[in-house]
Amino acid sequence: MKRIENYDLSNQNTFRMKVKAALYIEYDNVEELQSLDLKALPQPVFHMGAGSNLLFTKDFPGTILHSNIKFIKYVDMGLDEVLLTVGSGVVFDDLIANVAGNGLWGMENLSLIPGEVGAAAVQNIGAYGVEAKDVISGVVCLDTKDWTKTVFKVGECAYGYRDSRFKHERGRYIITSVLFRVTRKYSPKLDYGGVRAALEGRDLQALTPMDVREAIIGIRNAKLPDPAQIGSAGSFFKNPVISREHFERFATPETPHYDLPDGTVKVPAAWLIDQCGFRGKVLGGAQVYEKQPLVIVNASGSASLEDVLALENQIIAAVQERYEITLHPEVDHI
Ligand code: EPU
Repeated sequence: MKRIENYDLSNQNTFRMKVKAALYIEYDNVEELQSLDLKALPQPVFHMGAGSNLLFTKDFPGTILHSNIKFIKYVDMGLDEVLLTVGSGVVFDDLIANVAGNGLWGMENLSLIPGEVGAAAVQNIGAYGVEAKDVISGVVCLDTKDWTKTVFKVGECAYGYRDSRFKHERGRYIITSVLFRVTRKYSPKLDYGGVRAALEGRDLQALTPMDVREAIIGIRNAKLPDPAQIGSAGSFFKNPVISREHFERFATPETPHYDLPDGTVKVPAAWLIDQCGFRGKVLGGAQVYEKQPLVIVNASGSASLEDVLALENQIIAAVQERYEITLHPEVDHI
């Protein structure tokens, strides 16, 4: 177990904000976690993953917990379905490389999303028509009330768009491992946006999960900043869902949108932000990413929190003013 006071978090948040935590604890297994007396630690206690969806808004006065539980174990190799259990500290993309490399379908569309397995199950990460909940079978947690082990079936996790019970009952449960269900059965999901186009000319019947993984990596690299090169936390805002009547008040035939089954309309936040003139906009060290206006980047490498928050607020105000739509951050503000 690692236990470090006055811990520098600069390299542990992909936004690269220069912040410190009063105490940082990284545990290697469930028993180490259970040995902690949370109430005796500097408060508040916050559990983080890889820090790829966080914006620290100031130095953190309490304790940061981090899982270093790393295992990938195939537990049930059925004829079609395969079940595996994975430690919460495993890098999600390493898991996908492993699963897709074994010829198993289900996770490949989530390739290259930064972050770790525990956080993926909290956030219900999603991309290219697949969400984490589609491959999760169950979530194994410790209840911080008394350190008892609790297992939630996927149906008990209240999963929604970037949402789950773990976000609403924040701090109550710590995820230690996740059960995933994937399949040997040929089942590529190519119907989202540019996925099929990226595979043009290929014999679709001969596709492997690795082929789709590579296509997704190509699409993401073309559009999203590489966290190793430039600080960001991926999409900064969620895509808003509005009523059809609201949509028709401003829409033209060219307005991008996706009709949802309940009659509401999802509008890409990137489009709204672009329309308001923010693409590429610089504020101090922060910038709206040129290739994808849904992303705010730490362009200078030394953007201040004030720069990022001011840019965020300007975007929210402009979209509100012009479209009467309130954008909500997708990135957690800590
Ligand atoms: N959509 C569809 N069908 C399509 C295309 C888009 O239903 O064929 C919907 C999706 O529900 C999506 C929205 O329209 O939420 C906008 O889609 P777009 O492809 O323009 O992507 P985006 O808004 O730029 C979202 C995610 C990304 C994810 C991409 C690809 C959010 C906030 N962002 O971005 O996730 O990689 O879709 O699926 O939903 C992240 O969360 O950090 C992130 C990068």
